[in-house]
Amino acid sequence: MRILVTGGAGYIGSHTALELLAKQHDICILDNFRNSSPECLRRIEKLSGHHFSQITADVSDSEAMEGHLDAYRPDAVIHFAGLKAVGESAEKPVEYYDVNVSGTINLLRAMDRSGCRKIIFSSSATVYGRPEYLPFDENHPCAPENVYGRTKHMAEKIIQDWQGARSDSSAVLLRYFNPVGAHDSAEIGEDPTDTPNNLLPYVSQVAIGRRDRVSIFGADYETRDGTGMRDYIHVVDLARAHVAALELADRHQGTETINVGTGAGHTVREMIDAFSRASGRDIPYVVTDRRPGDIATSIADPSKAYKLMGWKAERTLDEMCTSTWAWQQRNPNGFRGPGHSNPTKNDVRQG
Ligand code: NAD
Ligand code: WQD
Repeated sequence: MRILVTGGAGYIGSHTALELLAKQHDICILDNFRNSSPECLRRIEKLSGHHFSQITADVSDSEAMEGHLDAYRPDAVIHFAGLKAVGESAEKPVEYYDVNVSGTINLLRAMDRSGCRKIIFSSSATVYGRPEYLPFDENHPCAPENVYGRTKHMAEKIIQDWQGARSDSSAVLLRYFNPVGAHDSAEIGEDPTDTPNNLLPYVSQVAIGRRDRVSIFGADYETRDGTGMRDYIHVVDLARAHVAALELADRHQGTETINVGTGAGHTVREMIDAFSRASGRDIPYVVTDRRPGDIATSIADPSKAYKLMGWKAERTLDEMCTSTWAWQQRNPNGFRGPGHSNPTKNDVRQG
C-alpha cells in the first residue's frame, strides 16, 4: 500500500514507519519537525535500507496538504501529526485546536480530493477522563478533562462523521495508553526537546545524570503503593498495532475505536525500581504533591484489539526499560548533534 504517515518523524510515527517499511509498504512521511528532527528520518532509511518520500509541511496549511495528497495519492493515511503536551494545551488552547482539530479537517479534505478512503488516527486514553470503572473499555464514557484530550475527542468525532458519510471508507481510532521504550537498535527513541512531561523519559534523564531526582507526584493514591498506576506499552508493540489497524482498515468498512494497551498496570515506584534494575543506576526521588488533573489508575481493556486485529502487546516492562536505557546511553542528546539541520517549510523530497 501507499501510506502517508503524518508526524512520521516523531516518537511513535518513526517506530511505525520502520514496521511499515519492513512489510514492504511504500511510505511518505509528512512532518514539520516541530517536535522532531530530520536526523530521525535519516536513521529510519539507514535501519530499513529503504528510501521513502519525505515532505516538510504543516497540517495546518490546508492548501499545501491538498497539493501533497494530490501528488502522492496515498491508499491510506496514518495521522500522528499533532501537539501532545497536556500542560501546554491549557496555555495555548487555540494552537492545540488548530493543529489537532483543524489539521485533521485539512487532512480529511485533502483525502477526499485525492480519493483516499482509509485513515488510522492517533487518539489517546486521555479522552476517557476520570474512570467510572476499570479497566477502560472502548464503551467507557468520554469526558476529557484537559484541552489536549478534548482536541483528540473532537478529532475522533470528526473522523467518525467523515467516515459515516462515505460507505466505501474506513477509520480506525487507536486510543494509546502510555507508550514507552525504544527501538531494539537504540538508534531511534523518544527525544523530548524540553523538560520531559512524561515519567519514563524523566526517570531516564535522572539515571544518566542530566537531572538530579524524580519527583513522584503524590504517594497517597488508592493504589498498591500509593503512587499513580498506568498501563505502559512498548512503542514497538504500539507500532505493530498500526500495521494491524491498516490491515483491518483494508478489509473492513466503518469506524472502529480500539484501545492499545497491555491490560496491566505499574505504579510510579515500580517504574523507578524497574528502571534502576535495567540501568544498574540509583534513581533518587522525592515525593511531592499530586499533579493537578492526574488520576490514580489508568488501565486498558485491550481485548477488542485482539478480537478485531489479532494484535496484543508482547513486550515486558523490563524490555521497555532496557530499550529506553540503551537509547538514552547511546544518544544522550537525542537526535541533536553535529549536522542537525532545520529544513524550510514545504520542502519536498520524493524518494
Ligand atoms: P511526537 O511529538 O514525537 O510526534 C508528533 C510529530 O508530529 C512530530 O514529529 C511533530 O514534529 C509533528 N507535528 C507536530 N505538529 C505538526 C504540524 N502542525 N504539521 C506537521 N507535523 C506536525 O509525539 P508522539 O508521542 O509520537 O505522538 C504521536 C501522536 O500520538 C500524537 O498525535 C499524540 O497526540 C498521540 N499520542 C501520543 C501519546 C504519547 O504518550 N506519546 C499517547 C497518546 C496519543
Ligand atoms: C505517568 C504517572 C504521574 C512524571 C500523559 C498524558 C496522556 C498521554 C500519555 C498523550 C502518573 C507520574 C509523571 C513525573 C510522576 N499522552 N509522574 N513524576 O499522565 O498517564 O499520561 O502521557 O496522549 O494524554 O496525559 O503519563 O508519564 O505524565 O505520568 O510521578 O515526573 O507518573 O503522576 O501517575 P500520564 P505521565
